[in-house]
Amino acid sequence: MSLNWVIETHERVPSTQDMIRELAEAGAEEGQVVQASQQIAGRGRHGRVWESEDGNLFFSLLLRPNCQAKDIGPLALIAGLSLAETLMGYLDHEQAEIVLKWPNDVLLNDKKCAGILLETELLASGRVSAAILGLGVNIKSAPEDIGAAVEEFSSRALSAEMVRDSFLQIFGAHYTHWQEKGFDDLRERWLAYAHSKDTPINVKIGEQLESGSFHDIDAQGNLRMVTDQGQMKSITAGEVYL
Ligand code: BTN
Repeated sequence: MSLNWVIETHERVPSTQDMIRELAEAGAEEGQVVQASQQIAGRGRHGRVWESEDGNLFFSLLLRPNCQAKDIGPLALIAGLSLAETLMGYLDHEQAEIVLKWPNDVLLNDKKCAGILLETELLASGRVSAAILGLGVNIKSAPEDIGAAVEEFSSRALSAEMVRDSFLQIFGAHYTHWQEKGFDDLRERWLAYAHSKDTPINVKIGEQLESGSFHDIDAQGNLRMVTDQGQMKSITAGEVYL
């Protein structure tokens, strides 16, 4: 099985997530991609706004993985891993360090350089009928203080399209591997980019804040942390603060 990417590009749209959702509802096949130079209503996780300035990369992919909703956890992690590996191909390694922060933030020298949003459509049986992965990568510019732009740490001039194409190639191979062989090898690769074991973290789970340290991720892509009370806790959805 290999993915056949079909790329549609636009100048300025509300959000590539919404555009690809419409294509999915109209029956588009797995591998459909929508990219825009600018978004006027780009959105991030937890309902946040995603600043979408010209020169950065904004795109969404349609996937139709053969899985139940409960097994979708690894998908966003695989996208983060693919993005980390993509960016490593462009960065000056003496100046730049990439770290993956669960579930799917890509940090460049401790600042966010990319975000990933996974949205799903489910059948009544609980099967995933569509998984929409949206990626925003700060290539030329980044929000002040909290963001990093990839080009600042590269000795090459970068374009959104070159990063997109490298990502699609790497992600395509990892996605196929996941569907055919499972998450084990990819989980190891993800952990190689994660912050080190025992790094202190706070995790917001709903309205609750849990403090402790990072342990690893499990076979389903859940975060495993050791709480300040010394218990191992597995977290399916939450936000990590370092
Ligand atoms: C995050 O909060 O970290 C996720 C950000 C995801 C942003 C991307 S940009 C392309 C796609 N379209 C959107 O409206 N959001 C995603």
